[in-house]
Formats: sequence, structure tokens, C-alpha cells
Amino acid sequence: MGWITKQSASAKIERRGEAYLTPAMREKLTGEIRPRFEKPLAAVLPALHMIQHEYGWIPHQAMLEVADALGVKPSEVLDTATFYEEYWLNRKGECLVSVCRSIACEFCGATDVTEAIKTRLGIDVGGTTEDGKFTLVELECLGSCGSAPAMLVDEDLHENVTPERAVGLVDQVVQGAYKHGGSGAEHHKA
Ligand code: FES
Repeated sequence: MGWITKQSASAKIERRGEAYLTPAMREKLTGEIRPRFEKPLAAVLPALHMIQHEYGWIPHQAMLEVADALGVKPSEVLDTATFYEEYWLNRKGECLVSVCRSIACEFCGATDVTEAIKTRLGIDVGGTTEDGKFTLVELECLGSCGSAPAMLVDEDLHENVTPERAVGLVDQVVQGAYKHGGSGAEHHKA
């Protein structure tokens, strides 16, 4: 795997006037979460969870605030946040579209599904549409290999998807006609 480097030293951190760590969150972090751990670094994970739970993602400014509240280095918070895939370091769209990229789905056409969604939304994998409506990601096995390719619309599992069905699902979300619940059950019945 080739590492993609970026110039962090000169990176600009977007800031807003209002702190992400509200007084109540700071109180919870320092008064409730921090005392549970021997070392302050151990409290970084739950602190990041708290930020993501509140805002849906973890802005750099929030990482600085967490570092300040816990008395750790900002680089230590950044290291932790970038190590785990579960943390969102970019703003997430209102609807998260995830396509399985593991072997069974890849073999059954997941790449075409992903390409079709990329074309429909005009974004790459990992990207978010300009209107903030959609984010597209690829995930590892969703546990539905027997009905590959599989994808998620938010938390709804859709199995046996084709590029056309995938685009159709996106269209339904755009039109407000999408019904949550997934389509795996329909396919098992068929
Ligand atoms: S490989 Fe895609 S669901 Fe298992």
C-alpha cells in the first residue's frame, strides 16, 4: 500500500467562534469521563465519541478543544482520531451510502455499483455532495455475501443490487420517496 502524505504543518484549521465542546460537554469530559482513567490519554477515545455523537463528525477545532480539556497534546488527539476508521474527520452527508467492497461483492459486480453511484452523485468514494445530502463510502463485508453485491442506505441493507437499482435507491432518497427498511427481505422471499 502506498502512503499518501499531506502537508500537515501548514494545514489551515477551520475555526468557528463557538466552541464545539460546550460547557456541559466539557464538564462531562473533565468531571465524569476523565476520572475513570488513570492517564488523560485514555479519555481521548470517549471524548471523540462524545463529539461525534453530538455533531456527526469530528472537526479539527474540536480535537484542539479536547486536547486542551484533557491536558494532552493536540497531535495525540489527532493520532487517535485518524487511527480508527469509525471516526469521521470530514462532514458527513445527511444520507450515508455504503457499498461493500469485499471479495464476494467485488466478484458479483460491486465495482460497477460503486461507479454508477459515483456518476449519479458526481462524487468519489469518501466524498460528500456539495449540497451535503450524500456521502459515499466503501465498507468491508456486510455479512450478506450470499446475496452479493450488498450495500447500505444509512443502516438499511440492500442485497443483490445492480447499478440500476443502486441509482434508483439514490433517486428515491433525492425525491423523498425512499422507504427505510432495506430490500434484503424482499429478495429472500422471491
Ligand atoms: S463480501 Fe459483501 S457482504 Fe460479504
